[in-house]
Amino acid sequence: MVKPIANLKKVGKDTPFEPRILAFCCNWCSYAGADLAGISRIQYPPHVRILRIMCSGRVEPAHIFTAFESGADGVIVSGCHPGDCHYISGNLHAEEQIEKLKKLLDVVGFDGRRLRLQWVSASEGQRFADLISEFVDMIRTLGSSHLKPDRQQLRSPQRAASRSKSQSRSHKKKYGSNSNSDSNSNSDPNVNPDTSEAVIGS
Ligand code: FES
Repeated sequence: MVKPIANLKKVGKDTPFEPRILAFCCNWCSYAGADLAGISRIQYPPHVRILRIMCSGRVEPAHIFTAFESGADGVIVSGCHPGDCHYISGNLHAEEQIEKLKKLLDVVGFDGRRLRLQWVSASEGQRFADLISEFVDMIRTLGSSHLKPDRQQLRSPQRAASRSKSQSRSHKKKYGSNSNSDSNSNSDPNVNPDTSEAVIGS
């Protein structure tokens, strides 16, 4: 769940805010609706990453909190219309959960509007695109989530590895190749023992 968010376009300090949205889409209706939007070449903002789930009722509060903690500015849970859920009442359970969560987010000072539940059927490609567009616009007006992790923690493993190599090279240059180059040793104050490990936002 984390990687799709971490892999979204990197945004620098001076880059205009581009929302990052995670959408949990039920396999039977909403995911098919999103698929239809794609097949029909209906345009909608590219700020959303879709995660297929079997039923909207499967999404737990922990999944949503993890998405926000991992850098999502907004989260959508999308399921079948009431009465159409393949598991009878999964979507009603989701509705109850999301309502409670939105209130909780408001109470803790994290705008509950950043979380949304929507119903989209398999034949509603246009509706899916419209809802995403409208949600992205709304998140844009709310601004970036203050729960966003440090971007350094979201750096790619390749960047982390290359940083580690360059530090190792400068260490050798400074102390010679015969020196004890155990970069995990805490004896050298110039070497951060943590840098030999890739830090990935997952
Ligand atoms: S199967 Fe789609 S919401 Fe339950």
